[in-house]
Amino acid sequence: MNRIPEFGNDFPSSMSQAQSYSNAIRTPLIRMFLEHIPDLAGLATAADLCSGEGDYADALSEAYPELVINAYDTSADMISIGEAREPKPSVTRFNKDVLTLDGDFDFIYCTYSLHHFEDPLKFWEKVKSLSHVGTKVFVVDLRRPVDETSLENILKATPMEIGDSTFMEDFRNSLKSAYTIEEVQSQLASVGLGYLEVVQCDIHGIEIKGEIH
Ligand SMILES: C[S@@+](CC[C@H](N)C(=O)[O-])C[C@H]1O[C@@H](n2cnc3c(N)ncnc32)[C@H](O)[C@@H]1O
Repeated sequence: MNRIPEFGNDFPSSMSQAQSYSNAIRTPLIRMFLEHIPDLAGLATAADLCSGEGDYADALSEAYPELVINAYDTSADMISIGEAREPKPSVTRFNKDVLTLDGDFDFIYCTYSLHHFEDPLKFWEKVKSLSHVGTKVFVVDLRRPVDETSLENILKATPMEIGDSTFMEDFRNSLKSAYTIEEVQSQLASVGLGYLEVVQCDIHGIEIKGEIH
């Protein structure tokens, strides 16, 4: 299937679209994230790139209370939904484009957002610039299905109660705009990160993980 780019930085384009995303049931994905990330014991700092409302950051802070977590997102609506959640002392939300960030983190992660980058090499270059030798990296995103039939099979296998019709439409569009495993491997090779592992993690997702050399 050819890639059809989604909204870029314009997603979510309204508070109601942000709310629809926020209302969707992501608990199983957050559980999988916590199970699949590396051991972070002893690490001091983490960056959540494209954090949305920051529910992954909040869950991570419960698993690792000593970790200082900065969560960055361009959507003021997503940030404000997140700031209405019960505050976690170690999580700070920033309304900021990740491509403009400076800093140095022990753990860098990004969930379901790589496909929003029209130039993914800029994203991977940013991951490198925010890292030092030993930084742990974990990126999970959707994987573009091979054809319409696979796309429909994924949608059929997704429980109806997971989100409203706006969310399901966004999910369909996100699948079409996601990168394939081969495309991600090629992106990583282009920026000297070809040693990171790229694996399929579930029916619709891929994970990119490893430690910066
Ligand atoms: C599909 S949502 C994922 C949110 C969250 N990571 C999750 O898994 O629930 C994509 C998010 O990426 C954000 N985003 C897209 N481009 C961005 C950029 N350049 N810098 C920061 N945030 C960005 C959007 O505002 C949106 O909240």
